[in-house]
Amino acid sequence: MNVSGRPYRTIWPAADGMSVEIIDQTRLPHAFAAARLTTLDEAAHAIRAMLVRGAPLIGATAAWGMWLALRADASDAGLSHAHATLLATRPTAVNLRWALDRVRAQVALLAPAARAATAHRLAVEICDEDVAVNRGIAAAGLPLLRAIAARKAAGERVNVLTHCNAGWLAGVDLGMATAPIYAAHDAGIPLHVWVDETRPRNQGASLTAWELLNHGVPHTVIVDNAGGHLMQRGQVDLVIVGTDRTTATGDVCNKIGTYLKALAARDNGVPFYAAVPSSSIDWTIRDGLREIPIEERAAREVTHLTGRLADGTIGTVALTPTGSPAANPAFDVTPARLVTGLITERGVAEASEAGLRRLFPAV
Ligand code: MRU
Repeated sequence: MNVSGRPYRTIWPAADGMSVEIIDQTRLPHAFAAARLTTLDEAAHAIRAMLVRGAPLIGATAAWGMWLALRADASDAGLSHAHATLLATRPTAVNLRWALDRVRAQVALLAPAARAATAHRLAVEICDEDVAVNRGIAAAGLPLLRAIAARKAAGERVNVLTHCNAGWLAGVDLGMATAPIYAAHDAGIPLHVWVDETRPRNQGASLTAWELLNHGVPHTVIVDNAGGHLMQRGQVDLVIVGTDRTTATGDVCNKIGTYLKALAARDNGVPFYAAVPSSSIDWTIRDGLREIPIEERAAREVTHLTGRLADGTIGTVALTPTGSPAANPAFDVTPARLVTGLITERGVAEASEAGLRRLFPAV
C-alpha cells in the first residue's frame, strides 16, 4: 500500500543485506516509522511487544527471524533454539507455527553452511505468497460487496463493520478483511466502514482507521459496544473480520469481542464473514473453544491507555482505580454456526469442514 505516495510492505529485507525492516506499529497512528531487526532476539521482541502483529505478519516476521538466527548460528541446536524462541512469542495465531515449521522442515535437511541462504529464500517466498493470497481474498470478497451495492439505491453506500485490524498492517500487504474493501473502493463501489475501536490495544482506532484514512476509504471509528446498536438500526450491511486461527470445522478465533459481533449479527440478520488466508487454518483441530490457546496479555493494557497528549507528546494515563485487578484475554472463538462464510484465497467457503475441504481437498 502507498504511504505518502510511496509503496510499502509491512516488512522488507534491509538494503544492508544483514537485517530486516518493519513498520513499527506501536508508533501508529501518530508516527510512521520503520524499525530494524538484526537478531533473533530482536525479531522475537518485535512480535511479543507487537511492533508487528496480525496473524500473517507474525508468521512472516518469524520466517525472517529464522534467517537472522541462522546467520548467527546455523547448527542443529541453533535451529531448535530459534524455532522454540519464536514459537513462544505469541500463542494464538497459528500462522506463527505454520511459518516456523515450513522454514525448519526445509533448512533441517541442509548442511549448516547452506541454511541461512535457504531461510532467506523462504522468508521472501512466504511474504510474496501472503500478498498473492490477499489478492485472492480481495477477488473472492469483492462480489459480496458488489451484490449488496446492487441492491441499494444509486449512490447509497455499503456499510461494512470490521473489528481489530485485519488490514494491510496485519499482513505483508493489502490485508485480509480489508482486501475486499480496498478492491470495492478502488472499483468505485460507494462504501463506508464502521471501525471498532478494539480495546484494550485499540488496533481498530489506531491502525485500521489510519489505513483507511490513508487509502481514502470513508470510515467512522466506533466504540466496541456500538456495533449491535448500529445493526439493530439497519446501518450495517456486512461484517468482515480476520482470524488468527480457523479450525478444520470452521470455528474462527479472532480478536476479543469478535464473538459478540457475530451474535449481534446473527440476531439482526447481518451476514458475518471472516477473511481467512489458508495459513491461518489449523487443520489439526476441530473444536475452537477447547483447543485454541487464548493469549492472556498484561493487565496494564486494560488499566492504562497511551495516546497523544495536547502538547503533541505521547503519554500514558491510568484508567482504573489503583488496586483494581484487570483481566486481558486477547482473543475469542466464534463458532462456525455464527459465521456466514469464510473468504479464502480460493473462494468463499461455507464455515464447515465440508466447505473448507471443498476448497482445500489436498491439505
Ligand atoms: O493481537 P493482534 O493485533 O495481533 O490481533 C490481530 C487480529 O486479531 C486480526 O484480526 C487477525 O490477526 C487476523 S488477520 C487474518
